[in-house]
Amino acid sequence: MRSNQLKEKYIEFFKSKKHKEISNFSLIPQNDPTVLFTTAGMHPLVPYLLGQKHPSGKRLVNVQKCLRTGDIDEVGNDIHLTFFEMLGNWGLGDYWKEDAINWSFEFLTDKKWLNLPVDRLGVSVFAGDKDSPKDEESVKIWKDNGIFEKRIAYLGKKDNWWGPAGQTGPCGPCTEMFYWAGKGDAPERFDPTDSNWIEIWNDVFMQYNKDIEGKYSELKQKNVDTGMGTERIIMILEGKNSIYETSNFVPIVEKIKQLAGFDKVNEVEEISVRKIADHVRAATFLINDGVAPSNADQGYVLRRLIRTAIRHGRILGISQKNLCGEISKEIIKIYSKNYPGLKEKRKKILDELDIEETKFEQTLEKGLKKFKEMTKNRKISGKNAFLLFQSYGFPLEIVRELAEENGVKVDVKGFERELKKHQEISRTSTKGKFGSGLADQSEEVTKLHTATHLLHSALKKVLKEDIEQRGSNITSERLRFDFNFDRKLTEEEIKKVEETINDWIKKDIVVKMDEMTISEAKKAGAIGLFEYSGKVSVYSIGKISKEICTGPHVKNTKEIGKFEIVKEKSSSAGVRRIKAILS
Ligand code: GLY
Repeated sequence: MRSNQLKEKYIEFFKSKKHKEISNFSLIPQNDPTVLFTTAGMHPLVPYLLGQKHPSGKRLVNVQKCLRTGDIDEVGNDIHLTFFEMLGNWGLGDYWKEDAINWSFEFLTDKKWLNLPVDRLGVSVFAGDKDSPKDEESVKIWKDNGIFEKRIAYLGKKDNWWGPAGQTGPCGPCTEMFYWAGKGDAPERFDPTDSNWIEIWNDVFMQYNKDIEGKYSELKQKNVDTGMGTERIIMILEGKNSIYETSNFVPIVEKIKQLAGFDKVNEVEEISVRKIADHVRAATFLINDGVAPSNADQGYVLRRLIRTAIRHGRILGISQKNLCGEISKEIIKIYSKNYPGLKEKRKKILDELDIEETKFEQTLEKGLKKFKEMTKNRKISGKNAFLLFQSYGFPLEIVRELAEENGVKVDVKGFERELKKHQEISRTSTKGKFGSGLADQSEEVTKLHTATHLLHSALKKVLKEDIEQRGSNITSERLRFDFNFDRKLTEEEIKKVEETINDWIKKDIVVKMDEMTISEAKKAGAIGLFEYSGKVSVYSIGKISKEICTGPHVKNTKEIGKFEIVKEKSSSAGVRRIKAILS
């Protein structure tokens, strides 16, 4: 079964269970200040998991593009990717364990749907701890569906608990489904540590909210949140041993091998091929969603992906210029049908990849030479790792990979200390922040959300009409807004933007929310980065702004206070960044 057929079946199945299809959101969270990427379908739904009414109702389903960097070192094995498409269904204060599990079982095993053999399935359930009891209810439902005791594993929080995506927010115990992808019949007992058992689907029972002190309290409503990676299930349905052998990946992998001039690759080369395939795919989708390579936040992750792909190209002996661009062309061909934006932005994507490749090429050879010199005593100090980063454009991951290949140690902690000392580069460039915190809905954050919409409109008015959001990040202290503009703003322009916004604020304009379909929203002139179908919330501030957004927002502009821009700088090529506060 091809990926598109799977997606269609999934949506059709859950529609038959009265779910409404919702948008496939941007990879860059639009209303979540504290996470870099959409890592699961539930991210854009946090306000609704917390109790806000969703315009499409209580049962939702979608395909969501996701990016996870937590397992980036695993990319190259059979089943790990950074970018993937997740199938998800949600019950928002509606159905609970029985329906969720029964439907998962039906979709996986029924002839009409995926028709997977029950005797190759295993499941895990939450074993219980001080925060939540053993999930006997799920065990019973699985048994009623014909899953034997030996095929049920009882695991703790580390494995059978999902969320919050960051430090705080909705979370709960989960039950995961595994498929025996090994040779021959599945063993009688399900062993989750045996890698032949592939995790395919996760049903999360989100009934708790975790607060900043780490305490769990019952949510207002019980939610079901499920997630199934399309690439893994396709691997099983197509009977392949690796995600990279499935129909969507074959043309990408073939292209890389063709550029390298190989028919066959050895095991080490295979890893390089896979890393290039994964990383360029992720980079293509990130640029499509408005990210440009830089040294901070999402831009830094993109830079890492592109540069790592280029280095692996070199390992394969590919001398071709525009390596990433050549591969990206294949990726755009494969995914344009589902993501028409890729075709529209083809030139931009290819240009961005070429620019980054050219930049990296200027320092790559010299950096590799420097690396050799540095490693005479089999160690890379923090200072040297930082020098490679700062002066030769080597992301830490490349230094670590190189070190591993050469049996050399890197002082990662020392690197991080240097990094802190030298730059106020975002914490995201090192591991810590990849999955951090969820949006808070405090008064300050709410005001800053509405102020962000006003800023967007003011920039259009003062600078040029085709200003587009390239990123947004809100903490309770400030807003940060990235947009396409290719020079520094003058002092007068900054003043004009501030005055425009403060005038609007003073006018006591009502902020209105309407629910409508995407096409109605587009017709009404709403802006927003949404693909696919479904109902959305559109927030209007008089005639000044109309944006598709999940909120929260103030009810009247007068609640916002005084708007002040505290910083304006470049964020990456062609992108400016404004930080602003309210007083
Ligand atoms: N949110 C559920 C999952 O990602 O597995």
